[in-house]
Amino acid sequence: MIIEPRMRGFICLTAHPKGCEQNVINQINYVKSKGPIDGPKKVLVIGASTGFGLASRITSAFGSDAATVGVFFEKPPAPGKTASPGWYNSAAFENQALKAGLYAKSINGDAFSDEVKQKTLDLIEKDLGQIDLVIYSLASPKRMHPKTGVLHSSVLKPIGEDIFTNKTVDFHTGVVSEISIVPANEEEIENTIAVMGGEDWEMWMDALKSRGLLATGAKTVAYSYIGPSVTEAVYRKGTIGRAKDHLEATAFTINDKLKDIDGRAFVSVNKALVTQASSAIPVIPLYISLLYKVMKEKGIHEGCIEQMERLFTERLYTGHEPKTDEQGRIRIDDWEMRSDVQDKVFTLWAEATDETLPLIGDLPGYKKDFLNLFGFDMAGVDYQKEVDEMVEIPGLV
Ligand code: NAI
Ligand code: NA
Repeated sequence: MIIEPRMRGFICLTAHPKGCEQNVINQINYVKSKGPIDGPKKVLVIGASTGFGLASRITSAFGSDAATVGVFFEKPPAPGKTASPGWYNSAAFENQALKAGLYAKSINGDAFSDEVKQKTLDLIEKDLGQIDLVIYSLASPKRMHPKTGVLHSSVLKPIGEDIFTNKTVDFHTGVVSEISIVPANEEEIENTIAVMGGEDWEMWMDALKSRGLLATGAKTVAYSYIGPSVTEAVYRKGTIGRAKDHLEATAFTINDKLKDIDGRAFVSVNKALVTQASSAIPVIPLYISLLYKVMKEKGIHEGCIEQMERLFTERLYTGHEPKTDEQGRIRIDDWEMRSDVQDKVFTLWAEATDETLPLIGDLPGYKKDFLNLFGFDMAGVDYQKEVDEMVEIPGLV
């Protein structure tokens, strides 16, 4: 079929298999161009199909020749209906890994469930024995709790007395408007922590350790975000920020539990980037479009793959303990948070309107990255050509 983007709000309902493949190949080529990494050899990536998780998987496999197991939750294709992009990304990744002689298997299902954990552990035991790196990169709006059966839904709201009001942009139309968000109640805060906090990460690590599937010196890393003052009320000091506080605290709990095998648990604070997860957060797209403009002008812009390659080579696998901030977090958002970058973005923020944004912001860059997530607007792909939507993931278990 001929596949075109079909937008609904901040999601795209279609995905292009060839474009997704090209996106994965570009990331592989980037990692290869940076040379070999003396990194992990057997890696589990939870949330492996898009964004930072996919980039972590690619960096492990094509930087460090690692065998990888990927867990994700993606929609398979049906005749006449495309798969979700993470499905096509994973198919492309596995085909490239196979070609390179690298082990790669995947599990498509709910990572929060006992069943998917069990299946993943059985696979690791059978095929790999022990793993030396676990990447935790889930971004989900909901979590069915495996013990209570309660379905928790997260919200993106401020906390406290005050209604949050600030600017946001509809990145499809370029219209800048004010949005107001009413603060969350206690239950919404608890639910957001249940979805995006650290409980599930700890469950994964407990399960892996109790089955003896973690190698001596194994590392685990989960991803967090801090960001600027303009998004603070709705992000870091809002409901999602509470969940990130919990995730970051969980790193210390897991770290203690891994002491006897010399294991380490880290949180890495990453840069703001266009992903399916971040496009859904109010205010963030406007911030990102200004940030991209400033960072590109300064020659320090990075995408997910550049971030993960730097995380591996300059933080996690340097031969010595990674430098952390006073809260024990690895910072790979260091360039985003540079004061010259933040000061500039802050000034532009005040100036941003429908009229000024095309000049002061990088909306075209935002839109392109957004389309690229779904395999559209990729250089080198012929979108007039018929493609088969029924792509299989070779190592799906
Ligand atoms: P993403 O939306 O690109 O990736 C989410 C991944 O989780 C996908 O592989 C998806 O299949 C998987 N997933 C979602 N629900 C699942 C479930 N129930 N079971 C199994 N897999 C499931 O998101 P992104 O942006 O890469 O986020 C990953 C982490 O990075 C999150 O913790 C996010 O907060 C963090 N982060 C994101 C930043 C950004 O600007 N995008 C910045 C800093 C941190
Ligand atoms: Na991810």
